[in-house]
Amino acid sequence: MTTELIEIGTVPEAWTRTDLLDLESLTAEEITLILDTAEMFREATDGCTRRLSVLSGRTVANLFFENSTRTRTSFALAARRLGADTVDFSSSGSSLSKGETFIDTAKNIEAMGVDAVVVRHRTPGTPYLLAQNLQCSVLNAGDGPHEHPTQGLLDILTIRQQRKEIAGLTVALVGDIAHSRTARSNIWGLKKLGAHVIVCGPSTLVSRAWEELGVEVAYNLDEILPRCDVLNLLRIQFERQAMRPFPSVREYAHLYAMNGQRMAKAKDSILIMAPGPINRGVEVTPEVADGPHSVILHQVSNGLAVRMAVLWLLLGAAHRGEY
Ligand code: NCD
Repeated sequence: MTTELIEIGTVPEAWTRTDLLDLESLTAEEITLILDTAEMFREATDGCTRRLSVLSGRTVANLFFENSTRTRTSFALAARRLGADTVDFSSSGSSLSKGETFIDTAKNIEAMGVDAVVVRHRTPGTPYLLAQNLQCSVLNAGDGPHEHPTQGLLDILTIRQQRKEIAGLTVALVGDIAHSRTARSNIWGLKKLGAHVIVCGPSTLVSRAWEELGVEVAYNLDEILPRCDVLNLLRIQFERQAMRPFPSVREYAHLYAMNGQRMAKAKDSILIMAPGPINRGVEVTPEVADGPHSVILHQVSNGLAVRMAVLWLLLGAAHRGEY
């Protein structure tokens, strides 16, 4: 990989945020600016394969207190593709086990000259607590079941690439809506850009209360399927559930797994998405996950572009005039 000086320009004056905590508080214009910036980085780096130096001298710390494959790697690669240094903190083997508080740990990491902290934690609101206590930028990489803003953004970018416009599309989020941060971030982002959103799953995981957010609630996938332009298949988050929300995984798969038979009832142009990790045979069968309608691996690639865009925008606003 070569480091090349490509003229990226400066962060637009209209962008003023230095933290990314959720999609709930972002405007449609801000979301669109992030998506456009992600496309710009994709082009400037041959699909995020070449390295730039726009964040050289900056340091990004990953603070992950929950398991992660895609998000952690993607944030680290995105920071490096922009020329930043990265530090990886893992909670096991840290001084948290010696009684240090979470805030003290974060402040100590910041004191080493970190410009941005990427945090994943099982407790909702943790990134907000960090943002109140740290000077550096804070990026939410998933706070319990609350939000996962970069996942929402990369999902929306993937849909926009395939369909050009988000407005007017019908997007169904299928599965464990109750415990899914991906669902919440998708709902906020998609609604702001004018999509019709359906949340669909067993009644123990999909409450009627979701209607208050302006989404349609459905319990029968086969009924809504012919109207859907996009299906985002969410994993059942067993690790967040006190009790099993349905009699058996087999019954769940029978009612909600996207399989070949269901594909026959869907629009020819349907997009099959999943944030990953996928459980083959539970929310999606291998023939669909690996089939021609699946954009699951495009989502992963877009994650890199979205995270490059977000890091560049947040750090650009935080250090305006210094570059
Ligand atoms: C999701 C997460 O961790 O919230 N995965 C991801 O970030 N790609 C969804 C999940 O764990 O099911």
